Amino acid sequence: MTPSSAPAVAHLSDPHLTTGVLGAEPAAGLHRVLSRVLALDPRPTCVVITGDLTDHGRPDEYTALHEVIGDFPLPLHLATGNHDDREALTSAFEDSPHLGEHGDTRYLVEHAEVTVIVLDSLIPGSPNGQLGAEQLAWLDSALARRPDVPTFVCVHHPPAPVGIPFLDGMGLDDGPALEEVVARHPNVVRVLAGHVHRPTTSAFGASLLTTGPSTYRQSGLVRSARAPVGYVHEPTGFLLHQRTSRGWVTHTVQVSHTSGLIGHY
Ligand SMILES: [Fe+2]
Repeated sequence: MTPSSAPAVAHLSDPHLTTGVLGAEPAAGLHRVLSRVLALDPRPTCVVITGDLTDHGRPDEYTALHEVIGDFPLPLHLATGNHDDREALTSAFEDSPHLGEHGDTRYLVEHAEVTVIVLDSLIPGSPNGQLGAEQLAWLDSALARRPDVPTFVCVHHPPAPVGIPFLDGMGLDDGPALEEVVARHPNVVRVLAGHVHRPTTSAFGASLLTTGPSTYRQSGLVRSARAPVGYVHEPTGFLLHQRTSRGWVTHTVQVSHTSGLIGHY
């Protein structure tokens, strides 16, 4: 199977890889989701993982990530999240195709039929995210490079509320500024985010914002600020953004607790 002329982007998120005895489950979770992606026919154009690649941002955790994704045969783009460490991520992957040139964590990938733009919203030591004026200006010009090519803007922190108060309290600080940029560029077919550990969809600019499920563990749909927060035993999975004859459709593909076809690599 090879990537076909029907472009699609597989959107994975929040693998939270770690090491030691607790490292087995998140590593197996990411491996299982990537294996499910490979079983798609045709295979997608590329895979994006929208941050929280590791649980603590330690070099040994990035080594574990390298072990899981090193032999994956499709283009795979990494974004940084609040659990990541920018320097450790860069030094682990600067010689790989998984980041920008020289290990840049903010970068642009121009595939033949889709553009992928990865933003870096990490504020060291904070659960919140921020892009900043310079990065937003860079995004504005990056989006203007190929205005007729469908484009995916990827950022860990959701730039708009998702209705879960404890998560909305640690979102992207300059989400409205990002929305203004996105609204100027109709080639943005989706803004892809993580951080939420469950799939959501909302309008954003002239586009759609989706958050991907975690490949490891899902957060509860906790709609009250008074309720305890935590994780729930819901299926892992990913989103598949696929072009159709009239536009783009997003599939939520569940992976654990299911009997879907699993590939291997
Ligand atoms: Fe996360």
